[in-house]
Amino acid sequence: MSSSKFARKAQEAGCDAVVAEGFEAGGHNGREETTSMVLIPAVVGAVDIPVIAAGGIATGRQMYAALSLGAQGVQMGTRFVLSEEASSHPDFKNKVLHATEGDTSLSLKSLMPVRMMKNRFYEEVTEAERKGASVNELKDLLGKGRAKRGMFEGDLEEGELEIGQACTLVGDILPAARIIENIWDEFRKTHADPLSCKSETS
Ligand SMILES: Cc1cc2nc3c(=O)[nH]c(=O)nc-3n(C[C@H](O)[C@H](O)[C@H](O)COP(=O)(O)O)c2cc1C
Repeated sequence: MSSSKFARKAQEAGCDAVVAEGFEAGGHNGREETTSMVLIPAVVGAVDIPVIAAGGIATGRQMYAALSLGAQGVQMGTRFVLSEEASSHPDFKNKVLHATEGDTSLSLKSLMPVRMMKNRFYEEVTEAERKGASVNELKDLLGKGRAKRGMFEGDLEEGELEIGQACTLVGDILPAARIIENIWDEFRKTHADPLSCKSETS
């Protein structure tokens, strides 16, 4: 959910829990552009069911922050793109690993907002939107299999490369189990002494 309104709707529909996913997140995203720091406490205040925080979380210290905002758990996508087990193309992983701040952006906002890495496809979409392209024109530009082409086939210029802002916090590709261990370790250290733990790259 990208808003308190959608979270309330999910609760009314009988959901057991909601994922509150902020603007930083990779992949499909909300139109409201609400960041996790604001969205998580807003959704926690709006519903009575457990809230799972997502969007921009890649380290134990961030997990601690999300839980301190009232979330009951966290969901991470971007961090695990940079795991050994992720089936995405090695060239995509490598590009994500070396990304710097500002290398991702929300795109396709008038069709279906997606946070992706800036590349030729992103520039084409941005230019089309600037010229006032219709939804159908954007659908034609997107075509079929654009994400597969980018993330699984490794076409770094014409493919859609979905990833979140948190990629800049990640300094290595590790086995998923090791990532969890590192996050848990940093979470526990932060819990023991919240003011002195320096965040390590996970
Ligand atoms: C490459 C990629 C693909 C994703 N695909 C989906 C998807 O198919 N369905 C979905 O609900 N969320 C998808 N997500 C969003 C994740 O489930 C998760 O909410 C999000 O990644 C959390 O933010 P983070 O990327 O900052 O960790 C995707 C995320 C990434 C990075």
